[in-house]
Amino acid sequence: MVNKAIESEPTARDQLSSAELGQILADHSLIVASNRGPVTFSLDDDGAFIAKKGSGGVVTAVSSIARTHRPIWIAAAMTEGDRRRAEVAATNNESLIEFGKPSEFRLRFVVPEPSAYHQYYNVISNPLLWFLQHYLWDTPRTPDITGEIWEAWRDGYAVVNRLFADEILAAAEVAVNRPIIMLQDYHLYLCGGLIRARNPDAILQHFVHIPWPDPDYWRLLPTEMRRSICEGMLGNDIVGFQTPEHGRSFMYTCEAFVPGAKIDYSGSTVRWEGRQIEVRAYPISIDTAVVRRIAYSKDARAHDRYLPNHWNEFTVLRVDRAEPSKNIVRGFHAFDRFLETHTEFQGRVNFVAITVPSRMDVEEYQNYLDDVSAIVGRVNAKYADVESGWQPIHLIMGENYPRALAAMKWYDVLLVNSVIDGMNLVAKEGALLNERNGVLILSEGAGAVSQLGEHSLIIAPTDVEGTADAIFQALTMPLSERRRLAEGLRRAVEQDDVASWFQTQLTDLVEYVINREPAPASA
Ligand code: G6P
Repeated sequence: MVNKAIESEPTARDQLSSAELGQILADHSLIVASNRGPVTFSLDDDGAFIAKKGSGGVVTAVSSIARTHRPIWIAAAMTEGDRRRAEVAATNNESLIEFGKPSEFRLRFVVPEPSAYHQYYNVISNPLLWFLQHYLWDTPRTPDITGEIWEAWRDGYAVVNRLFADEILAAAEVAVNRPIIMLQDYHLYLCGGLIRARNPDAILQHFVHIPWPDPDYWRLLPTEMRRSICEGMLGNDIVGFQTPEHGRSFMYTCEAFVPGAKIDYSGSTVRWEGRQIEVRAYPISIDTAVVRRIAYSKDARAHDRYLPNHWNEFTVLRVDRAEPSKNIVRGFHAFDRFLETHTEFQGRVNFVAITVPSRMDVEEYQNYLDDVSAIVGRVNAKYADVESGWQPIHLIMGENYPRALAAMKWYDVLLVNSVIDGMNLVAKEGALLNERNGVLILSEGAGAVSQLGEHSLIIAPTDVEGTADAIFQALTMPLSERRRLAEGLRRAVEQDDVASWFQTQLTDLVEYVINREPAPASA
């Protein structure tokens, strides 16, 4: 068996053929677990359930897989409607909630107490872990691991992870064959260990959609927390990251925090408690067919009618959730600097920012959205032209995926300047959809840089001056050069879409887990 090091990501040639993939999926059912499920339910005035598709990178990627492979999807009941739907399912002995016509998703809800869920989601997962993994703490001041955080760790994060593990094990027990269990993201770090302890033969994989910092930064968390996280992850057979660098950082953290863990950096494995854990990189991507379909759907075309009101002779676009990691404020500072130094562009360029408010229950997010609104006001006040009515920045708020995709067809420049990002799928969506040979300005902190960097203008995310220069360079680039870059971007995204993300993971599961000889007990 070839032991592929993390640097050499499997190529399409290494992957299973679709016939082999079909056979694997006939022999092993799939169980996917993520905090957010493919749908959330609410109740209309007559008490009937309304289902709304979930959003965000994880759900979108996994949904693409789900449409063709129909896993059992285990997700948290996030709303009152979800909880009611789960109750109805329990009363009717409905073991799986089916959704879609024809049924695309088969769902089981984990139903935590609202207070435990709040502690797990709004105290630990999002502010603490997500901030830590994006290196976003202002370390002289934050975080404070207070008694309240400890309580949320034990009564929220650990409790909800146990509920997920119980539900996954229950689903695995009734599966007709030995299922492949695929855990998603930072909400479920303890699940792998909990499942392994009760089912040593489980086929378990965990994919982390966000960055993984080095041990020095993880040390901001007390030993008990960081060690439980690493040990929980080591319950899996394979742990997957967006980039080889994040995989390597994971191995460093295991070496630093998990007593007895033996790391083989060249083979990308960790040996621990008699088992071998593979560490792999699977850069996530988009479902090119679905993205195109939505971008040209009736819904998107409705936006095509009024969006041109926001365009100008030159248009810079950004599309983000209002997350502090996206660096929206610095992007506007850079645009301000660009207008200051290239006055000839004043009146001729618009910066359209489509911004989706996110996690409004978390104080850091509220403050960030306030900062975004404040800088937009300042830059617009500085340049607004009363006579022509020109305003440089157009902020469009709210979640509307068809609208965001419709906008991507038009830009001259797409600005993706995240401080740090697991991947950044907006860069890939824009690359696929843009019809004007638009230039991608891409932060070197975004995971996407390893696949799209050679066809982009790369910037350091803190470099306001450099970003302003890149905007100028992009807007004055000869058409032939723009076309060459845009074609390169499109090819890169088309070659590596979400189907190959999934298929590579399954190929590795077959090679390293399903077909693997049992490890010698003494190892
Ligand atoms: C961000 C992260 C994803 C994560 C998602 C969850 O986009 O990059 O890795 O899973 O948020 O979002 P949610 O809205 O479900 O909390």
